[in-house]
Amino acid sequence: MCQPIILKNSYITTPIYYVNGRPHLGHACTTIVADILKRHRQMQGREVFMTTGTDEHGQKNQISAEAAGINVKNFVTDQSQHFKTLFDAINVDYDFFVRTSFPEHVAGVQAFIQKLYDADALVKKTYFGLYCVGCEQFKKEDDLNDDGQCPDHPTLEIEQMEEENYFLPLEPYRQWLIDRINNPSTWVRPERYRNELLNMLSEPLEDFCVSRPKARVSWGVELPFDSDYVCYVWFDALLNYITSIDWPNAKFDQWWPASEHLIGKDIMKTHCIYWPIMLQAAGVETVNQVSVHGFFVSADGMKMSKTLGNVVDPVEISEHYGVDALRYYLAKNIRAESDSQVSKQLIHDTYQSDLGNKLGNLISRVVKFAAKQWDGKIPTPQSLTEREQTLSNKVLVDVRTAHENLDFVSIAKSLGQIMQVVERLNDYMSEVAPWQLIKDNSQREFTGTVIYTLLDCIRLVLEGLYPIIPESANRGLAVLDQPAVTSTTKKHEFALGRLLADAPLGDDAILFPRVDPIDTQTKVA
Ligand code: MSP
Repeated sequence: MCQPIILKNSYITTPIYYVNGRPHLGHACTTIVADILKRHRQMQGREVFMTTGTDEHGQKNQISAEAAGINVKNFVTDQSQHFKTLFDAINVDYDFFVRTSFPEHVAGVQAFIQKLYDADALVKKTYFGLYCVGCEQFKKEDDLNDDGQCPDHPTLEIEQMEEENYFLPLEPYRQWLIDRINNPSTWVRPERYRNELLNMLSEPLEDFCVSRPKARVSWGVELPFDSDYVCYVWFDALLNYITSIDWPNAKFDQWWPASEHLIGKDIMKTHCIYWPIMLQAAGVETVNQVSVHGFFVSADGMKMSKTLGNVVDPVEISEHYGVDALRYYLAKNIRAESDSQVSKQLIHDTYQSDLGNKLGNLISRVVKFAAKQWDGKIPTPQSLTEREQTLSNKVLVDVRTAHENLDFVSIAKSLGQIMQVVERLNDYMSEVAPWQLIKDNSQREFTGTVIYTLLDCIRLVLEGLYPIIPESANRGLAVLDQPAVTSTTKKHEFALGRLLADAPLGDDAILFPRVDPIDTQTKVA
């Protein structure tokens, strides 16, 4: 039911992240998912543009800069760099890193709000109500917990606010939005969130406050028609999705509306209610798809915090285990419809069992055996016997199917299917026991066929895993003297028999060395 809308071009976005703190695992999560989808779609021959970036305006960043005693511009520049460092550390191949303090973005935001103003879509009025600085949003009593606090920011005090501001009335667009969500029904996925959204839309919508008086928040995009105000940070931030592709200039049409916003479940209202209505009110076609995922929560059931010592730092993980351990863990465990657990121990165990003992071990034992027996080269296969033919064909079909079915809601499933192939190959190796066969000279040619079959199937597995663990996959392919999968838009064809007999085997066959758990900090091999 929740099938994606397939377009030739694909514009994938992540949320842009607040810079009031250091990047954490949650930021890594959505960005890795975006990168996986980008690499996968490129392998399918599609043109992809992927953006991520930092959300730098607003009261929260202003307060953090003041607390650090740093000029706010310098503060956001320094903080933004930490996000770039993280994305490099986890091998994210974004096409554009937007910062909302970029002049091009600021100009786009001003052009957009001017359009709304000129179309009489905005009203100016005084609002009296509750305000959460953490969310940078006005709240209703119903939004608060039993202690009168924001459930997402229980340590921050809810403020009473009386303020004159500019508002975008949303109620006139409610029925349009309901119809949009229902048709096509794929707009917000998975279904669970679509239903939540329809539920939110079952009551009249309050006007959306799109400005903040400079007297309270000075760090923002000035309203072109009223210099006493800046744009509300969410209004400004959402517009990154079109300013990053050069709205309102020509390049915009190349990617819009072929867009897919990836978001965590926490920011559904802004993306699925405010954003489409903003676009509709300005006469810009609405976004094509919003894909919502669940959260990673601490495995001990507690909130991740430095004091509890259960924070999983994505940079630390990649430094310790290499770039792909975290990508693999998140891909294996992310669920669109529910939360998943994470801890350093779980990442360690998964690295060891899946990457080390299953995939890594398969590659190293086959490659080392081949190198030893055939003088560092890939053996020449004889015509495949029935068992080897059946195995190869099934591996081809399974890897190809897993690859074709990989999508936002099925990353973990596709990965699981490829890892089943790895298990099958490990079982085959153990059953055939080439180290026994080779002892019988009359079986040498057949043993070469067995090893060729295994190496060729490993190649297919690595190609299939490329979107998820690109660095390791390409290292493995290099060991097999195969070209790297790259970010081109040439469709990748999965086929058997690409390995060249007699080609040299590389000696970097240990892709996932044994590593001690992170807290002990020593590598054992
Ligand atoms: N700046 C806004 C977004 C503006 S987009 C126009 C914001 N920033 S944020 O820094 O708080 O990032 C929120 C996003 O980070 C979530 O929607 C999700 O994509 C990701 N995650 C944050 N914590 C997460 C987990 N614990 N698990 C998975 N992803 C999470 O909101």
